[in-house]
Amino acid sequence: MSEPYQFGDLMLLSGTGNPELSEKIAREIDMPLAQMEITRFADGEFDVKIAESVRGRDLFLIQPTCQPVSDNLIQLFVILDALRRASASRITAVIPYYGYQRKEKKTQPRDPISAKLMANIIELAGANRVIAVDLHAEAIQGFFDIPVDALTATKILARRVRERHGHNVVVVSPDTGGALRARRLGRILDAPIAIVDKRRPRDDTVEVINVIGDVEGLHCIIVDDLISTGSTLANAAIALRAKGATGVDVVATHGVLSDGALTRLHEAPIDEICITDTIPLHDGARSFDDHPRLRVLSVAPLIAEAIVRVHEGRSVSELFR
Ligand code: R5P
Repeated sequence: MSEPYQFGDLMLLSGTGNPELSEKIAREIDMPLAQMEITRFADGEFDVKIAESVRGRDLFLIQPTCQPVSDNLIQLFVILDALRRASASRITAVIPYYGYQRKEKKTQPRDPISAKLMANIIELAGANRVIAVDLHAEAIQGFFDIPVDALTATKILARRVRERHGHNVVVVSPDTGGALRARRLGRILDAPIAIVDKRRPRDDTVEVINVIGDVEGLHCIIVDDLISTGSTLANAAIALRAKGATGVDVVATHGVLSDGALTRLHEAPIDEICITDTIPLHDGARSFDDHPRLRVLSVAPLIAEAIVRVHEGRSVSELFR
């Protein structure tokens, strides 16, 4: 019989945030998701019943806090609380998409810092560790006083760029805040980078001021952490084509895809939009016929590997090399 791991046997659980991704992760690890019933009381409040004992087990609860954000968050908190009270040995919250992450600092007087508030509640509810994918700002790791394994889908997205273009591209950040992300992808692809100087006069409006770097005669790969309204990417693509780019692809980890985003992107001069499955595609986006340029790659193998490494106490940073 093999040695038991320090935190007991591995057990996978899933909220209802992205059941398809949870199933894929479970298949990768080759073990079933634990039986758990998530119901609502008559007034809409969540209840949870975990059908098997979790005492002394090393638990990984998969729950992205994407839309419906408030429901998915509360569900995460309630399940964590149930697991903690049921004497789990260790609980890792696997949050492929971390809701409220774009509010990670005050930009106006009297602003909240919602990303920090969510971190406080996740810890308070019972998480002992967190696994997340492409956090909006690396500093969010520091909002937690527990270990955070901040994974990145950059290599997965880079593979797709290589398949389509080889190395002959320029990697573009659609705003100055994303320059490091562009540099990381540029390094993998051995490609130069450019930066779009963007302003947001209002939360849902984007203006491009300038393009910094050479894009003329080159195919641009815009890289971003997430697509919400699609305005950032649509405007960046228009500006890049105006500066002489021969084509524009978009790669982004999280397809938030708020109302109207796909139409906006469809109308923009973009050749391919490549996202991952951290967030389930809503029904509108599932109709690939309407959006043949949309491609979804899976982060399940990446997350599964991270879970196994955390469970076995092995290095996770090796995954990034
Ligand atoms: C901004 O800092 C982010 O990295 C994304 O560029 C932005 O949140 C995308 O939002 P939207 O699609 O609404 O322009």
